[in-house]
Amino acid sequence: MTAPPLTPAGLRCAHRVNPLGVAPDRVRLAWVPEGTGTGRAQRAYQVVVAPDEMRLRADRDLSWDSGRVESSCSADIAYMGVPLAPGGRYTWKVRVWDESGVVSSWSEPAAFEVELDRTDGWHASWIGQGRTQERATPPNGPGPVDPVARALTPAPYLRRAFGVDKPVASARLYVTALGLYEARLNGRRVGDGFLTPGWTDYTQRILYQTYDVTDLLTEGENVLAAVIADGWYAGFVGFDVKWAGARYGAAPELLAQLLILHPDGSRVWIVTDERWRSSAGAIRHADLLMGERHDLAREPHGWDRAGFDASGWRPVRCRERGGTPLVADPGPPIRVTEEMAPRSIASFDDERHIVDFGQNLTGWLRITSDGPAGARVRIRHGEALAADGTLYTENLRTARQTDEFTTGGGTEVLEPRFTLHGFRYAEISGLAGDIGQADITARVVHSDIPAAGTFESSQPWLDRLFRNIDWGQRGNFISVPTDCPQRDERLGWLGDAQVFARTACYNRDVSAFFAKWLDDVADAQLDSGAFADLAPRLDLRNVRGGGAPAWGDAGVIVPWTMWKMYGDTGILHRHFGAMTAWMDFLERTNPDYLRARELGNSYNDWLGPGDDDTPPELLATAYWAHGAALMAEIADVVGQSDDAAGYRALWSKVRSAFADAFVAADGQVASGTQTAYVLALHMNLISEELRAEAADRLVGAIQAAGWHLTTGYGGVAHLLPVLSSTGHTDVAYRLLEQESMPSWRYMVQAGATTIWERWDGWTAERGFQSPWMNSLNHYAFGSVGEWLYRFLLGIDQEPGTAGFGQLLLRPHPGGSLSRASGTYRSVRGPVTSGWTRSGDRFTYQVQLPPNVSASVRIPSAQAAEIRDAAGNPPASLASFPGARDAQEAVFHVGSGAHEFSGPELTRG
Ligand code: BGC
Repeated sequence: MTAPPLTPAGLRCAHRVNPLGVAPDRVRLAWVPEGTGTGRAQRAYQVVVAPDEMRLRADRDLSWDSGRVESSCSADIAYMGVPLAPGGRYTWKVRVWDESGVVSSWSEPAAFEVELDRTDGWHASWIGQGRTQERATPPNGPGPVDPVARALTPAPYLRRAFGVDKPVASARLYVTALGLYEARLNGRRVGDGFLTPGWTDYTQRILYQTYDVTDLLTEGENVLAAVIADGWYAGFVGFDVKWAGARYGAAPELLAQLLILHPDGSRVWIVTDERWRSSAGAIRHADLLMGERHDLAREPHGWDRAGFDASGWRPVRCRERGGTPLVADPGPPIRVTEEMAPRSIASFDDERHIVDFGQNLTGWLRITSDGPAGARVRIRHGEALAADGTLYTENLRTARQTDEFTTGGGTEVLEPRFTLHGFRYAEISGLAGDIGQADITARVVHSDIPAAGTFESSQPWLDRLFRNIDWGQRGNFISVPTDCPQRDERLGWLGDAQVFARTACYNRDVSAFFAKWLDDVADAQLDSGAFADLAPRLDLRNVRGGGAPAWGDAGVIVPWTMWKMYGDTGILHRHFGAMTAWMDFLERTNPDYLRARELGNSYNDWLGPGDDDTPPELLATAYWAHGAALMAEIADVVGQSDDAAGYRALWSKVRSAFADAFVAADGQVASGTQTAYVLALHMNLISEELRAEAADRLVGAIQAAGWHLTTGYGGVAHLLPVLSSTGHTDVAYRLLEQESMPSWRYMVQAGATTIWERWDGWTAERGFQSPWMNSLNHYAFGSVGEWLYRFLLGIDQEPGTAGFGQLLLRPHPGGSLSRASGTYRSVRGPVTSGWTRSGDRFTYQVQLPPNVSASVRIPSAQAAEIRDAAGNPPASLASFPGARDAQEAVFHVGSGAHEFSGPELTRG
């Protein structure tokens, strides 16, 4: 019986579904060939792009017809047709030929719209109110002038009425702000995104969003409106609060263009210009770090609809658009992705209540209140409780994350929308009525990145660790990958992102998110070629310049990771210049191939549990060699073979310099720290003959620490992978299951619901770490997630390959686990892997999508006795890298479900 043809599904352009704004050079198409049965594969594809669906169906006047392309590629297909028109809409479809040459039907059509011409496409001016005289009410009440209150001003409300005198065929709103905007059309909110347009270095590039607003327009009078707020542009960002906000500019501004197309082909633009009027409304201030204050009695009801009397409104201040490029947002929108009900409420008196949501999250509260006018409801947010049960806020530093509402009376929704809080607990005061009956919801807010990975095991604490890792990602991936979401920091630290990038990809489809942020990284690069420590870059106290080891190196590691995980060669082409400039900087400043100079703000092995004894030039040189090795691969991918050869030569020079300086003849690595061994082994800086020796010494260092880890951000991600690849999976499990501090399990057992910034964020003896640096939601140590997926579950790729076409499925059972399973939704479709150990038998089950091949490698004490479901013996036997005295049974499989079983691994 022949299998039914494949179905190309899940069509995406630039990593998104039907994007409304995409730069022409980012148009790369992808689909997933779906189908049942085993051994299914795509042998060829054909993509067709047309300016509209009619022509697409008729195969007429096509913009691009790829013709039949013999290839198993189903992602990263660069558009190669006629030049795409700015603002143009295109529709496309794909069909595929399967392993026996049977062609599929055409896919359902998908679409994309090209961004506007960055210079000629814009006719609007920036509008705003300038810096208003009107002062916000000090959050602390009367008293000495509060510098924060002085910096905060009401959010401008902006409106423009206009007529539509004909039916509307379609309409698009192109909109952005310096600051944040919420656009409204005829009383309705446009789109479901928050904190738009997101954070970039606004002096270099400004993102905008495009919305289909066809259904929001009516014939007659219409009103286009917006509320704008300070956001990253004019509000408090980072930790130099003396700046009193206003990092980029003094006050927020809006830029918008509404394009209305009529059936007769005529078009009308409504743009931001001097015809708009402005006023203040209920939002007395709104700041990302400090919070929001609303005076609901001051809301000009109906202001965003036709018929409102705006005669008292002021003319706006209008400013020429300027030359900063306006770029269609390549990333996923920030949205409310989940709502959570309180888990418990503790009342201190009638006035003050602490609500526990049971989960450290990022977002805000929505409270429906019903009471008299003039009540002052105050909501403070914190990650933890102090010993006396009150809200713990010391670790927020100067961030206030406090929302206040003066009620207008009756049933009202109290909810901020231009701020963000990191919290598990909220302290509510001033709310009328019985708190137990109140309608209180936590709204979880972050970049809405599709989930990709699942994990489940026989150990509930490990499942909780997995969820904590994902929550850490959710709470911190907010337009940029930030370090933390609660204190006065929340910055795009490159080091943290680099350490966590691979885990991030397994957890969620971060392809579009990192595509956006890697532009920020390029924007932040210094003229010297050094990558900055932060992107977007900010001039902060103690954080000037760039080039810090493991931080700057993110500029190569993260794009490489995107290629590895998504097969995204576009990202490598796009940033190849920036990456080579970085490599040139390193070589120019370190001519003897030891990276000892220009280490910038060297954070070294940041936040390891003890003293950081790893020599900074050791860590720096290791990362340099690693970068050279990755660059050689990258240069090959982008077709620069001369550069590839150059980077291979560089790699061997740096490697020898490293070996000369830091590796002794007996395999000792200078300083003997775990991180020194981990980097030397992971980054292949130790000769083949000495690897086993060095790995034993790493184990010795772990044992000397009482079977505890001592790694900080520089080494942590590679610790368990190195142990497993050098035959010490048993030690990896020992660290994983270690219950006492420092360990992952310790955090979980101490009640963490996210990943802490520091191994000792809280201890029973001492309580919290220093409030000056103790975030309870920092994802870097969550980089152990990579080992859970790649090693414990065994969902990995053959070395040297990218984009999940050639899988290496090699589970590493061990520790006290009797089973584990999980799925990774790759660009080729979902890969499921699960194992159980019972009695002396090991069973391994995988489920693979079409269009992948896999070598399944199962460790066993008697590998020759492992059988597949049909009773076939292994294709071959090999030595198992995870445990030196074990073997693995090797099978080769394609799509479909497969099961293998046999005698259990006795060691590991
Ligand atoms: C941040 C980190 C960051 C580091 C740089 C800290 O304040 O929270 O996560 O990478 O500074 O050393």
